Parts: sequence; structure tokens; C-alpha cells
Amino acid sequence: MSDIAKLERDILAAVKAAKDEASLEAARVAALGKKGSISELLKTLGAMSAEERKAKGPAFNSLRDRVAGAIAARRAELADASLNSRLQSEKIDVTLPARPEPRGTVHPVSQVFDELTAIFADLGFAVAEGPDVEYDDYNFTKLNIPPDHAARQMHDTFYVSRQADGERHVLRTHTSPVQVRTMLKQKPPIRIIAPGRTYRVDSDATHSPMFHQFEGLVVDDATNLGHLKWTLEEFCKAFFEVDKVEMRARPSYFPFTEPSVEWDLRCDRSGGQIKFGTGNDWLELAGSGIVHPRVLAMCGIDPEKYQGYAFGGGIDRLAMLKYGIPDIRSFFESDLRWLRHYGFAALDIPTLDGGLSR
Ligand code: PHE
Repeated sequence: MSDIAKLERDILAAVKAAKDEASLEAARVAALGKKGSISELLKTLGAMSAEERKAKGPAFNSLRDRVAGAIAARRAELADASLNSRLQSEKIDVTLPARPEPRGTVHPVSQVFDELTAIFADLGFAVAEGPDVEYDDYNFTKLNIPPDHAARQMHDTFYVSRQADGERHVLRTHTSPVQVRTMLKQKPPIRIIAPGRTYRVDSDATHSPMFHQFEGLVVDDATNLGHLKWTLEEFCKAFFEVDKVEMRARPSYFPFTEPSVEWDLRCDRSGGQIKFGTGNDWLELAGSGIVHPRVLAMCGIDPEKYQGYAFGGGIDRLAMLKYGIPDIRSFFESDLRWLRHYGFAALDIPTLDGGLSR
């Protein structure tokens, strides 16, 4: 047997014998590496005469190609084998429950956020958001509450020290600045709902310095108080899961709406439980009104062409009422026993047809 044939046989035997990636790599280096046997062989071509090179060159090169091919084939075999053995050994029973006992629960405030979103999405509203640390300009001025306006005293504001951009910032005292943000970047028709955190300097059994509100805004070329009332009524029926509600309108004042209306909901609290649609109690539901033309203009919308309505109210109070939670402070104490009692299962996402709060 020629030296070349013997070399080939030895190398192919080593390749075949390689049991893993590392020994295969060692065999490759021994043959094709810088100082490998085939590389050394190829180097001898340089010293040959032209005649001899013509005779041996093709033989050496095809040897190198056969060896490289054998190594690639063996590498693929090894990869298959290792995948197969992993598939054999790593078994998972997909019928087992993901976790034997779910531990976390959804906070009632998050639950109400989701319920609100589901109800208003069904009425064609999109969800909008804004930051908790808000420009003074958006929280007040563009809502028709200029710097020295008395209405600023209606909000016990947390002021934030002046930011790098030179603007004055506050912790937003209501979700109404999301109206401004929406109008500044979107042309009518606008139909949004904005649930979120809000802040005021206030703390007792019914007030928390951080609380939650929802905001609604509709801007279009034909909107009126009737649409506003219908929207709130539909919301109440869906939210409290009752067929009938009765709302009462009270004239009110908000600088950013004109006229302004506050809505109460008829209820009965006699039996220790709350019922809607009957009784002689009234429950404060939301502030609202027709968006003030000055607000539209300051937000870049032509008040000659468009009008709209807005409404807003407290989410925490809705959650307390619907789920019978007596003290607002308990919402934010992170007491696990409270969360287990009042929380909702993580996978029960509220939907209108599947039930909001089963
Ligand atoms: N932002 C008002 C508040 O916090 C509520 C409101 C929203 C009133 C939208 C009118 C329109 O009391």
C-alpha cells in the first residue's frame, strides 16, 4: 500500500473512532491543522519539480477534500446522536399543572383597571397613558387653569423640584392631563380612556395621597351631553353587572369643561349591601362636562369644528364599592392575607362575554 493510501486509512479510522466533538476536533487538527499530516504533505508540493507537482498535486488535494468531507459527515452524525440522546432523556409531562398552587393574586385596583378597559374597549375607546410626574402646564395650564387661578387650590398638589428641562413639574393631581397629551398628538375623532395613578396631599380612611382615577375623552364633530350620559350609563350597567341604573346630574364646575356636570348613581345601602337602581341613597360617580373650547384650542384642535366631552372619577372607590372593601388605606398596605382575600386569580382576565368579575 502506498504511503498516501495508508495515511488516508489511518486518518479516516481516527475520524470514525471519534466519540465526541472534542476527539473529532483532535483528529481534524492532526490531519488538516497547521502542522497536520495532510498540511505537511501539501507543503512538500512547493519543493517539487513542475512535472512531479502536476502528478501529485491533484492526488494530495483530493485526499484533503475526502478527509474534510469525512470529518463534516462525522460531525453531523455526532450532533444527531447528541440531540437524540437529549430527546430521550429530557422528558416533560405537558399535562402536569404549571404550578401546583397559584400564589399571586391580582390586586382589586388592577382588576378594576382591566374591567374598565374591557367595558370601554367594547364601546370603541382606546387606552391612553401619561406619566405620573407631569408638566405643570399639562396638569393645569392647558386645562384652562392658569398659574394664579383659584382652582389650583382645589387640588392639594405635590410639587416636584424644577427638572433639567427648566419646566415646572407636579405629581399629577388627576388623569385629565392625559386629555391634553392625547389631543396634542392625535387628530379627531378621539375616543380614549385613561386609567392611572394620581396624587394629592390628603390622607384618611377615605383618602390616600396616591389614588387612582379614570379619565374619558371623546372629541368629534357631533358630540353632546346625551352621548356623555349614555356612555356613563352603559359603563355603570356593565361595571356593576346590573340591568338598570339611574343617574342624577348635578351642575358643577371644572375649569376645563363647560358646562360641567357631576353624576350620582341611585343606590340602596340599607341591607349592609349595596344595590343599584333602587333606594334613596346617591353615590358620587364622576365629574364630567363638555370640553372647554379654550382647552381644545390650547391643544391644537379647532373649537369651531370640533367639540367633545370628558369625564373622570375615582377607581379606588369603585373597587371598594363593588368588592365591599371598607378602608382605602388597606389597598396599599401590601398585606398578603388581604391580597389573598380580595385579590383575583391571575388568569381570570375580565371580558364582557366571559364575565367581568366571576
Ligand atoms: N379631573 C376631575 C377631577 O379630578 C374630574 C373630571 C374629569 C371632570 C374630566 C371633568 C372632566 O375631579
